[in-house]
Amino acid sequence: MYRIVPREEEGEKLVLRPEGTPNVVRAYLEHGMYVKPQPVKLFYLGPVFRYDRPQAGRFRQFSQAGVEVIGDGGALTDAELIALLWKILGDIGLKGLTVQINTIGELTCRRKYIEKLVEYFEPRKVDLPEEDRLRLKRNPLRILDSKNEKTRAMLSEAPQTVDYLCADCLKHFKEVLEYLDELEIAYDLNPYLVRGLDYYSHTVFEVYGTESGSQSALAGGGRYDYLVELLGGPKTPAVGFAIGLERLIHEVLIQEVSVPEQKISPKVIVIQLGDAAKKLALKIEQQLWAEGIPATSAMGKSSIRAQLKLANKQAIPYALIIGQKEVFSGTVILRDMTDGIQETISLKKYLDVIKKKLGE
Ligand code: HAM
Repeated sequence: MYRIVPREEEGEKLVLRPEGTPNVVRAYLEHGMYVKPQPVKLFYLGPVFRYDRPQAGRFRQFSQAGVEVIGDGGALTDAELIALLWKILGDIGLKGLTVQINTIGELTCRRKYIEKLVEYFEPRKVDLPEEDRLRLKRNPLRILDSKNEKTRAMLSEAPQTVDYLCADCLKHFKEVLEYLDELEIAYDLNPYLVRGLDYYSHTVFEVYGTESGSQSALAGGGRYDYLVELLGGPKTPAVGFAIGLERLIHEVLIQEVSVPEQKISPKVIVIQLGDAAKKLALKIEQQLWAEGIPATSAMGKSSIRAQLKLANKQAIPYALIIGQKEVFSGTVILRDMTDGIQETISLKKYLDVIKKKLGE
């Protein structure tokens, strides 16, 4: 992590966020979201920072888009999230991606497994590269995703996580896989997938693009049933994923995918004539957004004709026209763009009328 060194000794200790998950959990706790109906489903998008050795596909500042579902421990939620990730990547138009999946079980199973793993590697430690010897001491599980060829060769004989899971953990994983089969999402079982973050439990997964190599995961995630409690909250299961946006863009470019245009097209255009009308138009546009009605405007254009032309070009079905007269009388003109019929409605009623028209 990038640490910010405080000026004074007792100054606040800060780091640049290296990912989104713990911060989302902190927000969940700080805003008392555990009293809301569970699960709480959240998403985020923004820059993150990691003090890693930079290389192709591995940056020190990059962007993540993530989703977290907090408060549901069911296997279906794991599968639902993987399906959502799959759909997002599919909707962009990407092909040839693979989902790799594994389970690392819950804490007690994992402890048992780590013991066995250490038992296996201890007598072989002299043959391990320095980096993996250190892992054996500090975080043995990470040996599983070692990129070193010697270590990888030794791993083929090493104990595997699934052999040390309790019946409940196995059942959870089996259910996740069954749901994925049902959703027709092809996956590769990867017994060496452990993920680089320590908070995971049960299901872990990664989605890979068409370029091979350890830096090619487009997205990763998994279940983290202990993190909420670890950060001071009630025992709460959770699962999530994050997409690395730079890697995603790289994949979009090498696959030469033309990203589909945004599907939400405006239903209403707010047209104005004159300064006073502009102010009112801005307010109306915001009211429409607040109601969830996709609205647009062309405040930079001053002629009504030019604005109507834009509406036609974008096939926007309704226009709300505001001139000086409408501002004074507290009204607005609603124009049906398909037949050109206009009606004057009071400002108090226009939202209801629009909603009714759009609902028809
Ligand atoms: P992560 O696997 O560390 O997971 O990061 C998610 C994605 O961010 C990776 O699959 C990759 O695309 C991208 N990424 C990671 N490091 C770099 C880097 N140095 N440069 C460029 N891209 C990178 C997490 O961060 C978890 N918080 C995901 C999660 C959410 N788990 C549960 N909920």
